[in-house]
Amino acid sequence: MLSLGIETSCDETAASVVKGGRIVLSGVIASSLRLHQKYQGIIPEIASRAHIESISLVTRRALEAAGKKIRDIGLVCVTKGPGLIGSLLPGISFAKGLSYSLKKPLVGVDHLQAHLYASFLTKRASGQCRRKEPPSLPFIGLVVSGGHTSLFLVDKNFIFKPIGATVDDAAGEAFDKAAKILGLGYPGGPLLERAARKGSPEGMKLSCNGPEDLNFSFSGIKTAVLYHTRDGRRKTDDADIAASFQKAVVEALLKKSFMACERNKINTLVVGGGVSANKYLRGRFEHEAGSRQGFKVYFPPPDLSLDNAAMIAGLGYQLFKKGIVSDYYLSPAS
Ligand code: KG4
Ligand code: ZN
Repeated sequence: MLSLGIETSCDETAASVVKGGRIVLSGVIASSLRLHQKYQGIIPEIASRAHIESISLVTRRALEAAGKKIRDIGLVCVTKGPGLIGSLLPGISFAKGLSYSLKKPLVGVDHLQAHLYASFLTKRASGQCRRKEPPSLPFIGLVVSGGHTSLFLVDKNFIFKPIGATVDDAAGEAFDKAAKILGLGYPGGPLLERAARKGSPEGMKLSCNGPEDLNFSFSGIKTAVLYHTRDGRRKTDDADIAASFQKAVVEALLKKSFMACERNKINTLVVGGGVSANKYLRGRFEHEAGSRQGFKVYFPPPDLSLDNAAMIAGLGYQLFKKGIVSDYYLSPAS
């Protein structure tokens, strides 16, 4: 069965066609980022209007790229939240219209759960399917995005149990804020990662140990970077600050994720969300996993770490197979 995914939780308008819940046939993304850049953050009203303007075309392009017609689609999947209400609404309304006119089922999908499902997806490579083994269940899932930093215990029935979250800023938000303080631009995650490559992670003493339990805290480290750089008191090289900041955030994520695995006696860890595109993070997690017997860590293909619609189409298909469908009362949730 082919599922169509629609994702509009933030500034990206995305559509994707996925076969059998796993094979990504196409993925098209239009971003309104350019319109927000001068504000150094997403302006919800601008994002909402941009979704309305581009959603039809993005969906048509996704179908074309997959070589499929709209009547080939068996299931319409859409992000139901969390996200910006004004962004979610155009996507949900569009998906409801499609589902109704095609007489095909509608499935509302949780954005955070979908970020973890991205590791189950595989891409079609020049006519062939490059199949890699998907993660085994149960697993511990770490979602590190611009709006959330959450740990889940995902059981063998694909039920997500929240076991930890940030008590203040999300990891991606901290990257964005630190990058802004350092004058690197927006969105800051990839720019800070690039700056950090030229610096030493030992250049500045930073840490974000946070609460004792499986929760995280990232607002303190951002303030530490701010105090260090303001009032002309900056003594450390910017690249060293970036590298030290990145290391401290990644170490906190790593510590809590492996702690969650140990506590639950689970040796499979799945990481998803925009920050999981970070190569330093991937390297540290892989190194730590490699030092533990039988332990496996999974990441999505790098372009599926960030917001995309394939993860929505994929997880939507799995939910549908379990008999979970949405009705036309489906509404966005922040
Ligand atoms: O998952 P995502 O695309 O959107 C949300 O659901 O929030 O994540 C976006 C976040 C932004 O904060 C961005 O700065 C961060 O992911 N990000 C990164 C990297 N690429 C994106 N953070 C660190 N290193 C990266 N390479
Ligand atoms: Zn996301």
